[in-house]
Amino acid sequence: MKLWGGRFSKNTASLVDAFNASIEFDQKLYRQDIQGSIAHAKMLGKQGIISSSEAELIIENLKAIRREIETGKIEFKIELEDIHMNIEKILTDRIGDTGKKLHTARSRNDQVAVGIRLYVKESIIEINELLEALLKTFVSISEENIDTVLPGYTHLQRAQPVTFAYHIMAYFQMFSRDMDRLKDCYKRTDYLPLGSGALAGTTYETDRDFLAKELDFSNICENAMDAVSDRDFIIEFTSCASILMMHLSRFCEELILWSSSEFDFIEMDDAYSTGSSIMPQKKNPDLAELIRGKTGRVYGNLFNILTLMKSLPLAYNKDMQEDKPPLFDTVETLKSSIAIFIEMIQTMKIKQDNMYHAAKTGFLNATDAADYLVLKGIPFRECHEIIGKIVLYCIENHKTIEDLPLDKLKQFSNKFQEDIYEKISIRSCIEAKKSSGSTSHNSVISMIESAKKKLKID
Ligand code: ARG
Repeated sequence: MKLWGGRFSKNTASLVDAFNASIEFDQKLYRQDIQGSIAHAKMLGKQGIISSSEAELIIENLKAIRREIETGKIEFKIELEDIHMNIEKILTDRIGDTGKKLHTARSRNDQVAVGIRLYVKESIIEINELLEALLKTFVSISEENIDTVLPGYTHLQRAQPVTFAYHIMAYFQMFSRDMDRLKDCYKRTDYLPLGSGALAGTTYETDRDFLAKELDFSNICENAMDAVSDRDFIIEFTSCASILMMHLSRFCEELILWSSSEFDFIEMDDAYSTGSSIMPQKKNPDLAELIRGKTGRVYGNLFNILTLMKSLPLAYNKDMQEDKPPLFDTVETLKSSIAIFIEMIQTMKIKQDNMYHAAKTGFLNATDAADYLVLKGIPFRECHEIIGKIVLYCIENHKTIEDLPLDKLKQFSNKFQEDIYEKISIRSCIEAKKSSGSTSHNSVISMIESAKKKLKID
């Protein structure tokens, strides 16, 4: 007989149990469910709603059940629908009537809500620990490549020379915002829904402040109907996750490009590459491609939950059981993607000479050459035009700007002098960037310093 079977005179139809059940996926919440139940039993005992010896018996048995789940001794049953009812049934099978008292002053609706909030809070902490390791990796790669030069691109066309440290520290900014976004999402997840009952509150003298303390929630949901209906925190979490995956995907795309023979800027370690079953020469950046690909499933999960919640009337609806697979998938995808990404970039070989060589070709110093003429008193638009003509001449004659002798340059503008060559060397192009946040050596050093302050490393 079902835990809710009293009102029914028939069993559920044969197809129903499997369709209705969530145990296959929500068994992941066994720890959070037991944690919530232990706090609830403690509160019921403290408030005299059940006796303290009853509370103790319940708690002791819940702990034993948790140990047995962890050692694989328990088999869940599909007829018992979900993790909440499976655990309650095991408890009542063991301690009879006392076990049946655990569900006093609570409903499965506030029970499931507290379980997933606990799960999201833990997941945010774990993901942020991984993000911290990622940010630290960016700092150390940047420190090792403070003077490594490569082309900066716009439209994937070589644009201006930058340092590799500068490029990496751009990603530092993105992932550090991702971390802050998750911390912010944590604040809104940190509200206790337990004690809300099914939707209207309960008739018992419960103590929700005590529950919040026991379960380490900083706040209590103020409206019981909102508490059991709200899944915003999952949507917000999955949005943060989508932005984070978008950042990972952009970086992966660059790693894939950079490891092609066309770029040849990096080489992935053998341990993080795969071969081809037919082409013996191949070394493929599969892992970077997979992270890029998995971004799609995280976006899909976001749309899944957004669509799931759209138009649901208050309060709980069974539709909401479907929030868990996309949530769990998002957490697992994020954790595994960040972890593997860290190792991948820690072990990749950075081909500094190839990067430098690429920065030497493609007229990356053209803007600096124009800036040189501006300093000689020519309006910028005119300088742009003059340098454009020089570039065209160079392309037609297979030369770089610095290859041209001074008398040739003077044919384009008589303002050119001997110092032009020094002014348009790659090093000068980088060092001449004076604005704060630029690619110059000192500017990147101060970015790294502020990054270290944020990460509390010296
Ligand atoms: N397995 C359900 C879920 O995940 C638990 C809540 C069920 N509540 C109910 N009133 N049927 O949403």
